[in-house]
Order: sequence, then C-alpha cells, then structure tokens
Amino acid sequence: MGIYLDNAATSYPKPEIVAKAMYDFMINNGTSSGRGSYQKAMQSDFLVYETRKLVGDLFKFKDYKKVIFTSNVTESLNLALRGILEENDHVITSSLEHNAVWRCLKTLEKEINITITKVKASKEGYTNPLDVEKEIKNNTKLIVFNHASNVLGTIQPIDEIGKIAKENNILFLVDAAQTAGVIDIDVNKSNIDLLAFTGHKSLLGPMGTGGLIVNCDYDIKPLKAGGTGGDSAYEYQPDYYPNKLETGTLNVSGLAGLKEAIKFINKETIQKIHTKETEVVDYAIDKLSNVKNIEIYGPKKSDDIVGVISFNLKNKRAEDVVNELDLKHNIMLRAGLHCAPNAHELIGTKDIGSIRIGIGYFNEKHEVDTLVYALNEIQD
Ligand SMILES: Cc1ncc(COP(=O)(O)O)c(C=O)c1O
Repeated sequence: MGIYLDNAATSYPKPEIVAKAMYDFMINNGTSSGRGSYQKAMQSDFLVYETRKLVGDLFKFKDYKKVIFTSNVTESLNLALRGILEENDHVITSSLEHNAVWRCLKTLEKEINITITKVKASKEGYTNPLDVEKEIKNNTKLIVFNHASNVLGTIQPIDEIGKIAKENNILFLVDAAQTAGVIDIDVNKSNIDLLAFTGHKSLLGPMGTGGLIVNCDYDIKPLKAGGTGGDSAYEYQPDYYPNKLETGTLNVSGLAGLKEAIKFINKETIQKIHTKETEVVDYAIDKLSNVKNIEIYGPKKSDDIVGVISFNLKNKRAEDVVNELDLKHNIMLRAGLHCAPNAHELIGTKDIGSIRIGIGYFNEKHEVDTLVYALNEIQD
C-alpha cells in the first residue's frame, strides 16, 4: 500500500466500518431522504437525522435542524460567505486562509465591493487576537478564520477571536477543515456563529460530505434553490431549517459513512486521537530536524499545530522530491502551494511552495523513519 502521509488533503485509510456502512446502504436501502413515506425512505430519513445529531453533538450544538449538510467545506464556506456578506460589508480574515475562503472573498470583493482585511500572522503562523480587534470597523460584518492552517498546521486562537467577535456583535465563521475530529470544538464556548467542516479529512468520513453549523439567528441567504421534498407548491425556498439552506437530493450513502466515522471517533475519543497524532508529530519534527539541508516551517511543537508539517530541502525542487519519494520509495506526500497562497507569502515560499506531511490517526513512527531515510538518500 505504501506510506500515505497526505492526510491533510484527505484521510486514508478510513475505518473499515465507514466503507461497510456505505456499501450496506447502497445495497440494502438506496432510497432518497426526505422524499418518500415508505418504510425504506423513512429509514433513510432516520439515518440522516442520526448523522445530524452525531455531528451536532460532536461540536456541542443541540439545535440539530441547523446542522446543514453540504458536499464539502468549500461549499459550506461559500454558503456562509455568500449568504451573509452584502454590498460594502467589511470582513476580517487571517493571512493563512485556504482558497476555499480566500477566493470566495476575492470574488465577493469584485462582485459586491466588500472590503477585506487580512490580519498578518507571525512567520510561524501565530495570529495575535489583538491585531484582529484593531481592524474592526463600523461596517465589519464578519470575522472568518481557519482553525488550523493547512500549510503550517498552526492552531489559531479561536476562543480569543470568538470573544472579540461577540463583544463587538460581529459574526464569527470558523473553517474547521483541519481540526474537526482531532481537536475538541465547542461552538458555544468559543462563540462560533458558523462552523464549516468537511467529512473526509480528520473526521475520517467519505469525500462528498461536509456541513455548516448555523449557531446564530442571522438570516443567511440560500446558496441554491430547489427541491426539498416538501411544500412543493410553494415557489420559493422554505424559510425553515434545514431545508432553507439544504436543497437537492442528499448524499445519503456518504452520510451513512460519515455517521460511522463519527461513531468511530467517539469510541476512540478525540483525546486519544489527538494524543496519538501529537506523538507522531513530535517524533516527526525531531527526526526531520536532522535531515540534511532541510528547512521546516511553522511551530516546532505539537501543542501548537495539527498533523501538518511543511518543509523544503534546500537546492531541491519540492515537486522533484515528492516525485522521487513516490516513485522510488512509495511514500505519498504533496508539494506546492496547497491551495493556500497567502500562507506561502507569509513564509516566503510563494514561488517554490513546500513539501507537506499530513499526519493522520493511522500513521506510525516507523513510517516517519522510512521517510527520513528516503529524504537523506535523495540527497546523496
Ligand atoms: C483549511 C482548509 N479549508 C478548506 C479546505 C477545502 O476542503 P474541501 O476540498 O473538502 O472543501 C481545505 C482542504 O484542503 C483546508 O485544508
């Protein structure tokens, strides 16, 4: 199978039960949710409800109907940003955003003249919450931050930023793509109004699943209009949740997988998953530090990062290194900008990108040893 170290892109392998549940749903049920009243369709409804509840509980959110399912965090972020921001609004964001946020904001800047303030983090990816507070203006409608950078791994101070947002009556949207499932998130404690997540990374679920937790009363405009399975004679999108923001046939087989993935996480516990990952992260930072000609970016301690480590080998192109790792050593890493050009601007690698390790729950220390051996060999 080789050594898979690209869990920041998508987690692999998945717990076996995830694939089994999807297969089982497709073979033994296969019906649409919210559309029929026959028994199998009701089972499908129940499966979706149970998944909504599991997702809500994971983030300590009890208003389950406001757990909105999407196909990934990119869609969730577009739904929130496009549904909230209006002409001439001001938005504050980090200097580490993925294009899922950044491109959406830049498009809205062009389309409806929003203004964007990017708060500069340190070279290691630390954002000072006071720098966020300083940027608040009369027309600041929203603060949007990723919970952890997908380039540097740095965990952002969302509790402090959430407090600032609440005190100033500004909506707070968090992109939890890299943290959901590996760091405990409590939307109420952290004053998160909107939490965007994706199912296929550390939540260990299938691709094509994700969602948005709507922990606020703001009247979000739907991204899509269409069938919801009820009130069909009404010519507009219903104004009740989840149908207001969730339209078209749901990915029920995907949700069947996500449901089992969250049950797996609950059984293992986030604490255990986090501890295991941090052990491998600390080990990797320690071993990588001894590789010849290496430059590691971001914080060097696991307390401050998720399982993401970016680095370069001086005088070697990142793409060439990952190619050789793949072809000669069967080790899978990613090279490039990782869809987050601003983070590279911060660390001075916008022209060259970086090699990124994404450590997941199923990675082991001996895989890091093999990687370190290969990196040294590539340079001999
Ligand atoms: C921080 C962050 N935001 C957004 C995304 C986009 O995720 P998806 O492709 O699942 O929408 C990613 C994935 O790379 C990410 O790391």
